[in-house]
Amino acid sequence: MIVILWETWLNGSLPKARDRVGAKGYCVTSLGEGKRAVEHSKVCIFGGTGFVGHFLARRLARAGIRTLVPSRHPQRHADLSLIPNLELARVDIFDSKQIESACRDCDAVVNLIGILNERGSTENFERLHIEVVEKILETCQALGIERYLHMSALQADTTQGASAYLRTKGAGEERALGAERIGIRVTSFRPSVIFGEGDSFFNRFAGLLALAPGGLFPLACPEARFAPVYAGDVAEAMVRSLDNPETFGRVYELCGPRVFSLRELVAYTAQQSGKKVRLIGLGDSLSRLQARILGLLPGKPFSMDNYLSLQTPSLCHENGLVQLGVQPTDVEIVVPIYLGRQTERQRYTSLRKAA
Ligand SMILES: NC(=O)c1ccc[n+]([C@@H]2O[C@H](COP(=O)([O-])OP(=O)(O)OC[C@H]3O[C@@H](n4cnc5c(N)ncnc54)[C@H](OP(=O)(O)O)[C@@H]3O)[C@@H](O)[C@H]2O)c1
Repeated sequence: MIVILWETWLNGSLPKARDRVGAKGYCVTSLGEGKRAVEHSKVCIFGGTGFVGHFLARRLARAGIRTLVPSRHPQRHADLSLIPNLELARVDIFDSKQIESACRDCDAVVNLIGILNERGSTENFERLHIEVVEKILETCQALGIERYLHMSALQADTTQGASAYLRTKGAGEERALGAERIGIRVTSFRPSVIFGEGDSFFNRFAGLLALAPGGLFPLACPEARFAPVYAGDVAEAMVRSLDNPETFGRVYELCGPRVFSLRELVAYTAQQSGKKVRLIGLGDSLSRLQARILGLLPGKPFSMDNYLSLQTPSLCHENGLVQLGVQPTDVEIVVPIYLGRQTERQRYTSLRKAA
């Protein structure tokens, strides 16, 4: 029983039959004729302590690859130490020397660092989405690390992005792709909203719904559209691209198999978490007002910048998962597993964490 639970956790909830372990312990994926299995031996995952990072670290461990996860607070992520061949290190990501010593014996770097809302003057979009990318790439250049995977977002665009989040994500991605000129092989990923155990989308809404006064839930931007993508599939896409030359210099949009409105996703969350609420879809001016008010609360459950991001559909032109041979997982296969088993208390804890 313990072995099954352990394997389920390590596999990111869904063990996939398409992977098998090769003679060297590396994971041989079904990339097709002529495309090689992963060969990198140690990967540094910046932002690896986060939600997506957990999935990626487990997936890399399954592929027999050692990982280094730098963090501001390694002591808060002791659970990661259970992953085989994973090392946690305390690193200030604004200190080039510390980044360099963290990456010293890595041969590839993944950057998952990102924030949805700014906090104070130091935790801002410019620093975390652009400056950090530049610092990591400088380190890659200095240490001769030639492979870099970058996490962007759908609709990220330096000039046309609808929000500061999307504009800075676009600028960071631009910097990353520009590193091809200095010999770093870059692949960037642009996911829609990502779901899976520990996500901050379904879990956050489940927490907020649990607090709905009188069973009424006012929902801003109810018609915003998403194609939620499973974190296990995002990690799979990243691992498949790691040593695949066809992915060098390319950007992959990552989407799940179905498109939903925000209203549909929140109604689904209520149903799965057993909460009877009436959703009140807010029009544009009330959505803006809600963003202004909630943006003043600690943890910013919703902000004006989030409102602006929701003005462009988070949908793929072409699904990179399919291009990389990954079959997109549907929300209904995974979400009931973790939302359905949460107690009220756990929902509050998820909400506190997401804040
Ligand atoms: N989740 C989604 O639905 C979604 C959708 C599209 C794109 N993305 C992008 O995917 C990436 C990963 O998302 P996620 O949901 O896994 O994020 P997450 O759980 O919030 O993790 C982000 C990581 O960034 C690091 N970080 C955050 N603020 C920092 C700061 N001020 N200084 C240093 N490090 C900081 C944290 O590391 P430490 O606290 O350990 O230092 C954390 O591990 C992000 O770039 C995000 O923009 C996510």
